[in-house]
Amino acid sequence: MSKGVLITGASSGLGRQLALDYHADGWRVWACGRDEGRLAELAVLGIQTLCFDTRDPAACQGAARQLDGLDLLILNAGSCEYLDELPRFDGALFARVIETNLVATGHCLAALLPQLGKGGRLAIVSSSVTWLPLPRAEAYGASKAALDYLAASLRLDLKASGIGVSLIRPGFIDTPLTARNRFTMPCLMTVAQAASATRRGLARGLHNIHYPNGFICMLRLLGALPTGLWLRLSKGLG
Ligand SMILES: NC(=O)c1ccc[n+]([C@@H]2O[C@H](COP(=O)([O-])OP(=O)(O)OC[C@H]3O[C@@H](n4cnc5c(N)ncnc54)[C@H](OP(=O)(O)O)[C@@H]3O)[C@@H](O)[C@H]2O)c1
Repeated sequence: MSKGVLITGASSGLGRQLALDYHADGWRVWACGRDEGRLAELAVLGIQTLCFDTRDPAACQGAARQLDGLDLLILNAGSCEYLDELPRFDGALFARVIETNLVATGHCLAALLPQLGKGGRLAIVSSSVTWLPLPRAEAYGASKAALDYLAASLRLDLKASGIGVSLIRPGFIDTPLTARNRFTMPCLMTVAQAASATRRGLARGLHNIHYPNGFICMLRLLGALPTGLWLRLSKGLG
């Protein structure tokens, strides 16, 4: 029997490319999202689709009932909104981003983790933003930093069940999510490159998957600078 993977956020961007690539490789793919039209484009290719909002716990449980076991669960659905008017802090925006990126990941885990058996793998898509504080990214960065901890902690607790956990921290990828950015995105990757790097890392069972290498090295170096120095250097970013 071929292996099974469920991917949230598969109606667009990185998740969509992952769904296409795993399907082309002979996996059974459950592609999840909210946009019925874009999911239908995958369904005509023979990919199974599940349309639900990850912020709705009951809908996540409903999706889980359609499954009969998974080898790989990729929690990738996410959104990005920037805080543009600081020092006026937009609490509603902050709550929205935390709900979609973090709280909804919890709903997915509650519903879908029981589908992973011994030898299975959970992958959580965070971001390279967590290596370096960037202006306007308070909500997005906080949600992703929380996912980093979530994945690292789950890795300890799922080991006894034989479930591996991979944390994925991509650099900039050319997707609808980044198309809104007004700034130059260094080392921008295509979705094909990002999906390929993700799949290579998952196939190797890596705990931490991050790319592209040069960009990640730069972020880690800048992230290691004394706070005062980064405060001066980051002037004008954003
Ligand atoms: N692009 C980048 O540079 C980059 C870099 C680092 C990390 N990431 C992370 O990679 C992941 C994928 O991003 P992307 O760039 O591929 O973005 P994208 O093209 O905007 O796709 C986002 C996906 O998430 C789904 N989604 C969002 N909110 C949802 C909800 N409440 N319920 C169900 N599905 C929901 C969307 O589904 P619908 O459209 O159907 O609603 C869509 O399929 C995100 O977690 C993002 O933070 C992206």
